[in-house]
Amino acid sequence: EKMQPTIFVIFGGTGDLNARKLAPALYNLYLEGWLPKQFSIIGTGRTKLKDDEFRANLLKDINQFSRSGKVKSEQWDIFSKSLFYQASDLNDAETYKEFGVRIQQHETEWHTRANVIYYLAVAPNFFPIIAENLAKSKLTKDAERTRIVIEKPFGHDLESAKSLNQLLTRIFNERQIYRIDHYLGKETVQNIMAFRFANSILEPTWNRNYIDHVQISVTEQLGAGERAGYYDGSGALRDMIQNHLLQLLCIVAMEPPVSFSAEEVRNRKVDVMRAMRRFSPEDVRLSTVRGQYGGGWIEGKEVPGYRDELGSESNTETFAAVKFFVDNWRWQGVPFYLRTGKRMHQSASVITIQFKDVPHFMFPAAAADNISHNRLIISIQPEMSIRLQVQAKRPGLDMVLNTVDMVFDYKGTYTNQAPEAYETLLLDTMLGDQTLFMRGDQVEEAWDLIMPILNTWQNRKSLNFPNYSADSWGPESAEALIARDGFHWFTLP
Ligand code: BG6
Repeated sequence: EKMQPTIFVIFGGTGDLNARKLAPALYNLYLEGWLPKQFSIIGTGRTKLKDDEFRANLLKDINQFSRSGKVKSEQWDIFSKSLFYQASDLNDAETYKEFGVRIQQHETEWHTRANVIYYLAVAPNFFPIIAENLAKSKLTKDAERTRIVIEKPFGHDLESAKSLNQLLTRIFNERQIYRIDHYLGKETVQNIMAFRFANSILEPTWNRNYIDHVQISVTEQLGAGERAGYYDGSGALRDMIQNHLLQLLCIVAMEPPVSFSAEEVRNRKVDVMRAMRRFSPEDVRLSTVRGQYGGGWIEGKEVPGYRDELGSESNTETFAAVKFFVDNWRWQGVPFYLRTGKRMHQSASVITIQFKDVPHFMFPAAAADNISHNRLIISIQPEMSIRLQVQAKRPGLDMVLNTVDMVFDYKGTYTNQAPEAYETLLLDTMLGDQTLFMRGDQVEEAWDLIMPILNTWQNRKSLNFPNYSADSWGPESAEALIARDGFHWFTLP
């Protein structure tokens, strides 16, 4: 596809997200030839900076955070010419007028109209302010050429998500709105769709008749740290499950779409969300677990507990585990266990599909001493692999079975480096492809699903926090949640 002339206006241009993710991603897109010739980035923030200062800051950031290593000066000389900075006061109409002037200057210089992408890498209280002002200044009138990218969090609860959606859809057409969930841009997450829908051997077993249960586990060694102030108003359920983990669940559980188009794929994902069983307060008691980390040691370093980092006796959860059901024909009775937490023993995002055991085990009982279950293990990060665990005969004169792995490993299969999620997603905003972005109705369904959990938790405050220590697998009750059903959380070695 021919790339249109493009201008990115990055709100939060001096912020952390631009430094760590957006600027390095755009730079790598440039290196790999994905950017149009006529391209510019206008960073904006409260700080007053000259273009040169902005460029120097980003050079430092890209050197530190880019996957492609140290920046080469010939390349930087070209790329940095497309970086500009404009200080702004987001409440002031004048600011937006100036953006308009800048955009026109580029267009005049290029002798053509440009696509303009407004990227809101700012705190969520600015989303409505920016959106309204862009509209008032007529900067987003052209629905074909202008787009708006909204970073998470998309709402704090169902009500606020709905009103944000209402505000945005009053001003923009849905096809101009790009709601980011960066998990959808991860190479291994996109591959789940390729794996499911480009192979005929999986579909016949991908249902309640063969699958026993599904686990989606996203654990981090990192603590809340300097983000504790922000994080405390959120917690693990809002921060991770409402978006990232439920997105993963949708991709695992969705019906095969007719085509790989934004509407087909997103329709099928919404179908899953709508089929998910809603919780009564009693369900919340039985099917959810929350936790908060205390202090401890991680890899030889002493780390403080969450309340110490925050400096107050907060009841915000830094760990959550939930057992969900998808009430449709394919998944009736199959539990989906989701868990996520900070300051845990391992940083790993892993989906485990556990299959039912054989209907009749014909070998002598002793042959089964060392076997476990048939599992498909999709490792998203840091290991990028898909493994199928099967039983095999151990070489020897007796009939003894072992569980062995059939492995597809990115490292062993491909030599090219996988792009960062933000490279994929930024490129898609330029191409106008919304497949990997969240549609408004899906976000609302996800909030609708977790609201009863949030509300019930809110009302029940006698907690034994902290209830897990750093470097553990979370609270013991999380193990109990899954052990009651006869399973245990799977972890890669
Ligand atoms: C973010 C959360 O959306 O995702 C963070 O706000 C979390 O709390 C992060 O650490 C995890 O992303 P990744 O890509 O490092 O798995």
